[in-house]
Amino acid sequence: VITRRYKFNVQMTNVTRLCTTKALLTVNGQYPGPPIVAREGDRVVVNVTNNVQNNVSIHWHGIRQLRSGWADGPAYVTQCPIQTGQSYVYKFIIKRQRGTLWWHAHISWLRASLHGPIIIYPKKNASYPFPRPHQEVPIVFGEWGNADTETVINQALQSGAQANVSDAYTMNGLPGLMYNCSANDTFRLKVIPGKTYLLRLVNAALNSDLFFGIANHTLTVVEADAVYVKPFQTNIILITPGQTTNVLFTAMSQPPNATFLILAGPFATGTAAFDNSTSAGVLEYVANGTPVNTSSLPMMKPTLPAPNDTCFRSQFSQKMRSLGNPNFPAASAPQKVDKQFLFTVGLGLNPCPQGQTCQGPNNTKFAASINNISFIQPTTALLQAYYFNQSNGVYNTTFPDNPPFPFNYTGTPPNNTRTLNDTRVELLPFNTTVQLVLQDTSIVTFESHPLHLHGFNFFIVGQGMGNYNASTDPANFNLVDPPERNTVGVPSGGWAALRFLADNPGVWFMHCHLEPHTSWGLKMAWVVLNGNGGRSQSLLPPPKDLPPC
Ligand code: C2O
Repeated sequence: VITRRYKFNVQMTNVTRLCTTKALLTVNGQYPGPPIVAREGDRVVVNVTNNVQNNVSIHWHGIRQLRSGWADGPAYVTQCPIQTGQSYVYKFIIKRQRGTLWWHAHISWLRASLHGPIIIYPKKNASYPFPRPHQEVPIVFGEWGNADTETVINQALQSGAQANVSDAYTMNGLPGLMYNCSANDTFRLKVIPGKTYLLRLVNAALNSDLFFGIANHTLTVVEADAVYVKPFQTNIILITPGQTTNVLFTAMSQPPNATFLILAGPFATGTAAFDNSTSAGVLEYVANGTPVNTSSLPMMKPTLPAPNDTCFRSQFSQKMRSLGNPNFPAASAPQKVDKQFLFTVGLGLNPCPQGQTCQGPNNTKFAASINNISFIQPTTALLQAYYFNQSNGVYNTTFPDNPPFPFNYTGTPPNNTRTLNDTRVELLPFNTTVQLVLQDTSIVTFESHPLHLHGFNFFIVGQGMGNYNASTDPANFNLVDPPERNTVGVPSGGWAALRFLADNPGVWFMHCHLEPHTSWGLKMAWVVLNGNGGRSQSLLPPPKDLPPC
C-alpha cells in the first residue's frame, strides 16, 4: 500500500477579491485549498495543525472511511475539534472509489474558505472507461463574501435569518469577469484544438445548486461522486452543494475566431435565490503553442437555464445512471430491504427566544428539521460517547422512523410548523439494507435540499414530485442501474428514495449541505453497530491523538 502524506497548516491569510481584502482561514495559505492526489487503494495521511483562533476539523467528503470513522471529521459527531495550537493526523485508505471527491472544514461555516479537491486516479495499470484525456482540470465552485463570515453566521444563528453570505460565485476561488473589479481574477483554461479535457467539478458553495456550461461545447458526463456513470451528453450540468461531477469535452479542431465563456450560476426555486449572479471563466484556444490574441474577438456565451427551471433539474437527474459494464461493473442496489424509513426534510418556525428579535414571519425563528427534529449538536463527540458506552446525556436512540404527524406536501402547510430540539440517532444493526425516502416539506420556503450521508454511498432508486406514495411509487424504482452517490438533491416539493447497505460500523452524519439549514438543525446521525464477524466488521479503536473535548 502506498502512503500519500500531506501537511495541512490551518492559518489566516489575507485574500483580495472584488476589491475587498479580508483575512481568510486557509490551508497552507491557499484559497481554495491544495488538492489531495492519490490512487484507488492508497493510504492517505493528513497531518492537520490548527494555527488559528477557531476550533477546526476537516472532513473528507465522500470517502467511505470503512471502519475508520475516527478520521471522518464532522465536529462533535466523530471527533471533538482540533483546538488552537493542536494537531490531529487523519488516516484512511481509499477503497473502491476513483474519480473526484473533496475535503472541507466541518465545523460552523468554516468550509467557506477551507476546502479543496480530492483527486483519485484508478489503480496503477487500470484504465478509465473513456479515452485518456489530454489534460485533467479541477474546477471548484465556491462563494466569496465581502462581509466577515463570523458576523454572517452569528446573524443567521441568533436571529434565524435567511443569510446571504456571498457577493460572488467563484471558480477555483476566482469570481470572474462579470463581476466588478475581477477582470484579473478570472479562471482561464487554455486548450489545444482537437484535444480532449476532463473537468473535475466540485460544488463547494455554501448555499446554491449551480448550473455550469461552456459556450459552443458539449459536455459528456462520465462520473459523479467518484462513481462512473453511463456517459451522456449535455450542454449544461446541474450540481448541488456537496456533489462532484467529472465531464469530458473536446476542443474544436478548427475553432472560430472567438473565445468562449465558462459560466456557473445558481439554480434556485422560490425565495431561495440568494444571489442570481454568475461566475465566468474563459476558454482560450492556443494554436501552435501561442495563444490566439483574443482581446478584440467576440465572446461566445452559454445559455444557462432560468434559475427556477425545475424541468431541467428532473430531466438531468434522470440521465444519471451507474455505468456497470463487464469491464467496469457497478455495485448493485439492495434488491430487498430490511428496514424502511420516511424522513421529512424542511424548514420550520420556532418561537423567538426571550429578549431577541427574529426574522421569521411574526417574529418567529427559522428552524430546520428531519422528521420534525431539529438536531442539537452535543458538546462531546457522538462517536466517542458511543464507543465508550457513555451515551447518557449525550444522545438518545429515539429518532422517529416516520414523520410524527401526517403532512400533505402539496397543499396548505400544517398549522404547527414548530420543530422539536433534540439529539437523537437512529440505530442500525450491521449489514442492514436500508430504504430511506426523503420527503421535502416545502414549508416556509421552497428549496431543494442537498442531503449528504457520511460513510456510505447510496443508490438513488426513485425521485418524484408531490407526496411520496408508499403503495405505488416503489413499482417504478430503478434497481437496475441507479446512480450511486453520497449527496442527493431532494427536489423542492418532491421526494427522493435511497437504498444503502449499512456495512460500515460507526456514527455517520447525515445533513443538508446548505450551510444555514445544517446550522438550523437539518441533520441527524446513524449509529451502525459492529457485526459478529470480528475485527473485519468492527470499528477500529480511536487513534491516540484524537482531539480531547
Ligand atoms: Cu460535505 Cu458533512 O459534509
